[in-house]
Amino acid sequence: MSSKSSDDDKIKVFGDKLESQALQKGCEEDIEKHCRRCIGYPTMRTMNKLKKYGMYTLFFMFIFVVVFQFSEDVRQPAYPVFKRSETNQTNRMIIVVTPTYKRMTRIADMLRMANTLSHVKDLHWIVIEDGNKTIPAVQDILDRTGLPYTYQAHKTALGYPRRGWYQRTMALKLIRSNTSQILGQDHQEGVVYFGDDDNSYDIRLFTDYIRNVKTLGIWAVGLVGGTVVEAPKVVDGKVTAFNVKWNPKRRFAVDMAGFAVNLNVVLNSDAVFGTSCKRGGGAPETCLLEDMGLEREDIEPFGYEKTKDREIFVWHTKTSTPNIVQSKKNQTKPVPPPDTFGYFVEV
Ligand code: UGA
Ligand code: MN
Repeated sequence: MSSKSSDDDKIKVFGDKLESQALQKGCEEDIEKHCRRCIGYPTMRTMNKLKKYGMYTLFFMFIFVVVFQFSEDVRQPAYPVFKRSETNQTNRMIIVVTPTYKRMTRIADMLRMANTLSHVKDLHWIVIEDGNKTIPAVQDILDRTGLPYTYQAHKTALGYPRRGWYQRTMALKLIRSNTSQILGQDHQEGVVYFGDDDNSYDIRLFTDYIRNVKTLGIWAVGLVGGTVVEAPKVVDGKVTAFNVKWNPKRRFAVDMAGFAVNLNVVLNSDAVFGTSCKRGGGAPETCLLEDMGLEREDIEPFGYEKTKDREIFVWHTKTSTPNIVQSKKNQTKPVPPPDTFGYFVEV
């Protein structure tokens, strides 16, 4: 006998038992109800099975949704700013120019900047080493960004301040002489930004501000010029002055981190960073922008729209050099560099 028919027999016996119990109690009208509930019609049995398995299915679906939701959170933290995928609707290439030089904290600074820039597409990074040769550890960082980049060495020439001026000049010359290679095949337009290696950049600086610069874009910079924030003063969408402490009378009272110029402005002038800038009180920004033929009316301000809780997208930070404890056993001899245990540190 198959197990199916033995189950049916058991059900039948159980049904008979209920029937006789109901008859004994004298409640005949309940028989049908009892028997149906216990034995069930074939359709009801299927329904019961469906109900049972449906519950299982619902339970497993619930577990799946919970697990999926959790793993989604792990995979994609709730910081949309770091995950935003930008569609470059302008077709502009962002060209970032970064002077850099050997120091103990340089690899850390460059790594931080590389991690930020690698989130931005359609970006060409021009890095100019203030030295006689390029440094493999820097090149490795640039390689790992996956960005198109140019890395060259140009040691500061005699007469130039050692603050990246000469390196930016060499970058401007490179942009003018190799425009199509830097733009790449897919781009006809570009924007040039001078991003120093030690600042802290919000990805939105590139995706929301720099990408949209048609002539000269200017925005707020945090922790700069001896104050907490320097920003353009905007009235009816136009820049009328600058909210800065240091040297506010400059035509462009802005730090290097606070502006970007359209590539056409660069290509239509031969302005470079000279050896000094008297109009800037020593700072090079206003001289460069004035030499490019720009006026205050050309400024497109960014990030001023809100009246409060305005956000700063770039911070003029500086990594402090750590105090290295040197052994002073024999002070008559020069102190040897600290041991790096085979690790690469620019000591
Ligand atoms: C501030 C501005 O933020 C700079 O853009 C501006 O060039 C500078 O003032 C100036 O007065 O000219 P600050 O933070 O004081 O800059 O200077 P650094 O960040 O030390 O240097 C600016 C850039 O030049 C950096 O990318 C740095 O790596 C590079 N640099 C500095 C060199 O290439 N060689 C050096 O010897 C020193
Ligand atoms: Mn700096």
